Amino acid sequence: MAKALEGVRILDFTHVQSGPTCTQLLAWFGADVIKVERPGIGDVTRGQLRDVPDADSLYFTMLNHNKRSITIDTKNPKGKELLEGLIKTCDVLVENFAPGVLDRMGFSWERVQQINPRMIMASIKGFGPGPYEDYKVYENVAQCTGGAASTTGFDDGPPLVTGAQIGDSGTGLHLALGIVTALYHRTHSGKGQRVLAAMQDGVLNLCRVKLRDQQRLAHGPLKEYPQYPHGTFGDAVPRSGNASGGGQPGWILKCKGWETDPNAYIYFITQAPVWDKICNVIGKPEWITHPDYAKAEARLPRLKDIFDTIEQWTKTKTKYEAMDILNKYDIPCGPILSMKELAEEPSLRQTGTIVEVDHPKRGKYLSVGCPIKLSDSPAEVTRSPLLGEHTDEILRQVLKLDDSKIGEFKSSGALGAVKPIAAE
Ligand SMILES: CC(C)(COP(=O)(O)OP(=O)(O)OC[C@H]1O[C@@H](n2cnc3c(N)ncnc32)[C@H](O)[C@@H]1OP(=O)(O)O)[C@@H](O)C(=O)NCCC(=O)NCCS
Repeated sequence: MAKALEGVRILDFTHVQSGPTCTQLLAWFGADVIKVERPGIGDVTRGQLRDVPDADSLYFTMLNHNKRSITIDTKNPKGKELLEGLIKTCDVLVENFAPGVLDRMGFSWERVQQINPRMIMASIKGFGPGPYEDYKVYENVAQCTGGAASTTGFDDGPPLVTGAQIGDSGTGLHLALGIVTALYHRTHSGKGQRVLAAMQDGVLNLCRVKLRDQQRLAHGPLKEYPQYPHGTFGDAVPRSGNASGGGQPGWILKCKGWETDPNAYIYFITQAPVWDKICNVIGKPEWITHPDYAKAEARLPRLKDIFDTIEQWTKTKTKYEAMDILNKYDIPCGPILSMKELAEEPSLRQTGTIVEVDHPKRGKYLSVGCPIKLSDSPAEVTRSPLLGEHTDEILRQVLKLDDSKIGEFKSSGALGAVKPIAAE
């Protein structure tokens, strides 16, 4: 069965996390992703946070599945020649270099268009055009500048970054959508185009509800926030602790075992349509008709007390027991699952969301598989490439070079350091 993106060839200049997440998704959908890496070093994450000596780190392996790796020194003139050849044969160039790097390499958008007018050139940068466009950005910088940190945490504490990599992987997702959209557009226009996803924009997009709340603030206090009714609101959206971002109030509550287990908690949503069931489950049937509790609006100033009362009930159950009971009554809730629990969850293994991958240097490891399931194009996760593993294969198969040409490029140093002959 052909994969959805079969026939699409990606020239992958990405590194670290944001760009690699994007090209990994495209590879899972069937694109041929050729990762260009610096000879001898490669993507810097190969060596970062290493857990097994001399093996590519999990950081690298978990972000670069299903790709091929070629090493080219892009600052070498013969290396540039190879790149030109690859640009001619590829459909999309994806990069997340610091601003200006690609221009300095000699591959500006104008130049890329000259080489291949059908080429789609997709970039992740920290910021879009404006005062900060030349700045380098990492995950937490994006979380801070995109509105996530100022709105995350508790009111009496400092801004917090989240464990979800919304700046890196979030922007990678945005870019992947931009790329497939541009590929579709090219089927009509016949031309490539530039695709830009700025990390600040990506984070802000994911913080959309907070910009909603910023505007609601002008019309009075945010009644679903824990600051209401006793606290004060300033002129910017405050941190809302564990309050729900939607119209159905929620909070994280302790469950049985919370004294020793840091994850014995459950997210409990007091969804209005099942309020009567909630009251019955927690042993407060009188709240169903009581004027202070019967209507959602009346409950807003009492949310803290309501959640304290519900917690008296959740504390008598494990998070899994609570989940089972609540779901019997269609009451939305979410147990706080640790990474250990997720790694061991059989249903996630069955769907391929968690996969075990074998690697020649590190052995078996767990990874997150493709989270998007296409019925006619299922993703099969294969291991990440070793540095330069496919250099020869790509030179022959994609660039159609013969032995003597390959020898020429090798001796130029374009594929890596030229080793001195022993007698020299
Ligand atoms: C992530 C980031 C901060 C890393 O910065 P960095 O480690 O300094 O890496 P850069 O992107 O600046 O590239 C460094 C150099 O490597 C060189 N290089 C990269 N691949 C090469 C290759 N195959 N051959 C030769 N040189 C290569 C580049 O040409 C550049 O050199 P130059 O600065 O002399 O022009 C930066 O790339 C960035 O801001 N990217 C955009 C935002 C982003 O994606 N951030 C999230 C990362 S998860």
